[in-house]
Amino acid sequence: TTDSAETLQLTRTCPYAPPEQHLRLLREQPVTKVTLPGGSAAWVAARYQDIRTVLSDPRFSANRRHPNAPRLNGEMDPGQSPLPKMMLEMDPPEHGPVRRAVIGEFTVRRMAALRPRIQQIVDEHIDAMLDGPRPVDLVRALALPVPSLVICELLGVPYDDHDFFQTNSAQLLDHAVTAQERQHAALELVIYLDKLVTAKEENPGDDLLGRQVIKQRESGQEDHGALLSLAFLLLLAGHETTANMISLGTYMMLRNPDALAALREDPARTPGAVEELLRHFTIAEFAMMRIATEDVELGGTVIPAGEGVLMLANAGNRDPEVFQDAEAFDIERDARSHLAFGYGPHQCLGQNLARVELEIVFDTLFRRIPGLRPAVPDEQLAFKDNATVYGMHELPVTW
Ligand code: HEM
Repeated sequence: TTDSAETLQLTRTCPYAPPEQHLRLLREQPVTKVTLPGGSAAWVAARYQDIRTVLSDPRFSANRRHPNAPRLNGEMDPGQSPLPKMMLEMDPPEHGPVRRAVIGEFTVRRMAALRPRIQQIVDEHIDAMLDGPRPVDLVRALALPVPSLVICELLGVPYDDHDFFQTNSAQLLDHAVTAQERQHAALELVIYLDKLVTAKEENPGDDLLGRQVIKQRESGQEDHGALLSLAFLLLLAGHETTANMISLGTYMMLRNPDALAALREDPARTPGAVEELLRHFTIAEFAMMRIATEDVELGGTVIPAGEGVLMLANAGNRDPEVFQDAEAFDIERDARSHLAFGYGPHQCLGQNLARVELEIVFDTLFRRIPGLRPAVPDEQLAFKDNATVYGMHELPVTW
């Protein structure tokens, strides 16, 4: 019964580990019903294998607008969203074709081709840091603008609109501003993206949205709403996530001098360090939720039809059955099978892009600013607790 279920904790006591409660659930009650901070009930899955099962079993739906979708404290009801359904919320058979239409934009080869331009963007922002006053907030100086500019160029946002686009997307993601201001920024962006999509429909250029317009035309399935929700999803999913990993990853490397020295010594270690950072923070764990469409047995427990499951992927990424000495941060381990990008049909579409951005940022930042260090003591750092995606509000650094 829900009355006796314990309340799920969302706040980390240690910034780089899941709440202690999640690790206890992993050990003792890997599939269990909890009360969410908002008062509703949901199941949680904490074991690596159970999480993979839920994320790949078609009897679990990704429809976040379902009334029983696990909703965390203070979140907007997605049922109220003015946007057409995004791929993230779709089930088969609707999901596959929508994803396949755009997957070619995110191949390893495509992302490798973007490297020189991403390197240039990163270098320009580090130049500005080096020329500017110290200390500087790494979030605003580097972590937010880099993924933002990359998304702009992918989507084909005209250069003159960059400022408007960046200001509003930064507002949308800034928890220091009021919910009302954020809502306003979201609306401004929807209006902006709506115009952008219309412009691409009139004159499709050689960018992601332009190519989607042409593809739709060739298949005789023109769909303005689908383009709008794709643009919005890519902006949202591809922006805050990578930005948060840049600030958290920088912070984590700075407080692990041995790992940082190893990285500086041999940049071939960077891809491994990126995977370990992704595993270690699992920033998007509260974004992974599903609804059982029929009674489904999971790890010996039956999840009844219509009930929601939240993946405790940060605990799953510390499952001792999969990761040895799982709580240690070790950039030499093979962390590639982590759950930070999800698993199954919805596994992160932008993961190759995120990897390239993170690799370039860390390599360049630590090489070009060897004396980089946090400018405030740990206690003064503000982490994004209670947010769907974990991160840092700001990271003052100096050198
Ligand atoms: C899906 C995490 C970066 C686009 C997901 C999911 C996770 C995730 C966990 C699965 C959600 C679920 O199963 O319910 C991350 C992390 C990132 C990152 C940790 C950065 C470090 C990006 C980037 C883009 C992107 C850069 C695009 C530019 C998407 C899209 C989906 C998705 C479109 C939905 C895929 C589908 O439903 O088929 N991401 N993401 N992500 N991500 Fe990412």
